[in-house]
Amino acid sequence: MADLKKEILEALHKVKHPGVGNDVVSLNMVKNLTVEQHKVSLELAFPSANDPLKNSVKKACAKAIQAVAGPEREVEVLATAQVSSGRKDNSEMLPGVKNIIAVASGKGGVGKSTIATNLAVGLSMRGAKVGLIDADVYGPSIPKMFKVEDQRPLLRKVNNKELVVPVMQYGVKVLSIGFFVHPEDALIWRGVLATNALNQLLSEGLWGELDYLVIDLPPGTSDIHLSMVQSVPVTGAVIVTTPQDVAVADAIKGIAMFRQDKINVPVLGLVENMSWFTPENHPEERYYIFGKDGGKNLAFRYDMPLLGQIPIVEKIREQSDAGEPSVLDEDSLIGKQFLELADNVANAVAERNAKLAPTQIVQITEK
Ligand SMILES: Nc1ncnc2c1ncn2[C@@H]1O[C@H](COP(=O)(O)OP(=O)(O)OP(=O)(O)O)[C@@H](O)[C@H]1O
Ligand SMILES: [Mg+2]
Repeated sequence: MADLKKEILEALHKVKHPGVGNDVVSLNMVKNLTVEQHKVSLELAFPSANDPLKNSVKKACAKAIQAVAGPEREVEVLATAQVSSGRKDNSEMLPGVKNIIAVASGKGGVGKSTIATNLAVGLSMRGAKVGLIDADVYGPSIPKMFKVEDQRPLLRKVNNKELVVPVMQYGVKVLSIGFFVHPEDALIWRGVLATNALNQLLSEGLWGELDYLVIDLPPGTSDIHLSMVQSVPVTGAVIVTTPQDVAVADAIKGIAMFRQDKINVPVLGLVENMSWFTPENHPEERYYIFGKDGGKNLAFRYDMPLLGQIPIVEKIREQSDAGEPSVLDEDSLIGKQFLELADNVANAVAERNAKLAPTQIVQITEK
């Protein structure tokens, strides 16, 4: 039986999850494999609850097992959803949070907050427990994008400490510095005050259990980025760029920052936003307003996944301003594209957690 178990695992090693391009064993999806006289059963733990490829991967596994286990054995493959953790242990900050995803860019205005919003809501629509921190203390835009500008988070005492209860909207727990300060006041914030604000959202937010905590960062490479990697182990970064040369050049700086030896945060992949424009009455046409494939080529050059190409769509801007993220309209083309992006990010996290050691908090010793 032990030999057969080994053979089954070898066969499963060849079954790829087409969405990720890696096999189910390397992705750590195979759980509780039991081999009996008349039956083989296993659990396949998918990285998200509504993985659209669930049935095809399940079937491919059953077929591969049947081929080695023989027709006389019944094969049972049970699909479960289990988001893997990119954390080392449970004693650090945010003990209930499995994965921390930073959304960053080099250049401003490329669509970080739009991507972070639709990513967080999309992951939640797929059944994950999700939180979102707006770390852009200079220009917080998440409250508006979630239509919660007028809300104020409640405080709750836990173990004698006052904690801030995130605002729940579209299935996502949200905290933003925008809930606490007047926009004009935020503009004059400097270094220490700004980094303290992010630390407070991290350490004083009542986040509870989360599969993913998405952090929407300000543009560039600032004190806030450094403060973040010193406060929490960031599972991975998602880099947003437009196809334009200047945006791509700045994205490279962003990637370089996360990849620095001292920081060492894996880059999960790249999102190319504003990839092209298609007029509504000419759906067959594409106008490459900011250039063509700049982000796609960068992903190829740096050997990182292209997590999505999101076109320029008037509706994205309108829905964003109205506080109704486009992904909510899951039957629309753009809704589907954002959901695919969320799936790609979930898969990239699963792959990262299967392959790489948990990220460490950055220790910077001042001289
Ligand atoms: N694909 C898109 N199609 C149409 N409009 C978009 C798209 N992506 C973003 N926008 C719009 O562009 C503007 C800038 O986007 P957003 O605020 O997400 O960028 P950002 O990178 O977070 O900016 P900042 O650097 O200021 O934080 C917003 O008005 C948003 O609605
Ligand atoms: Mg922003």
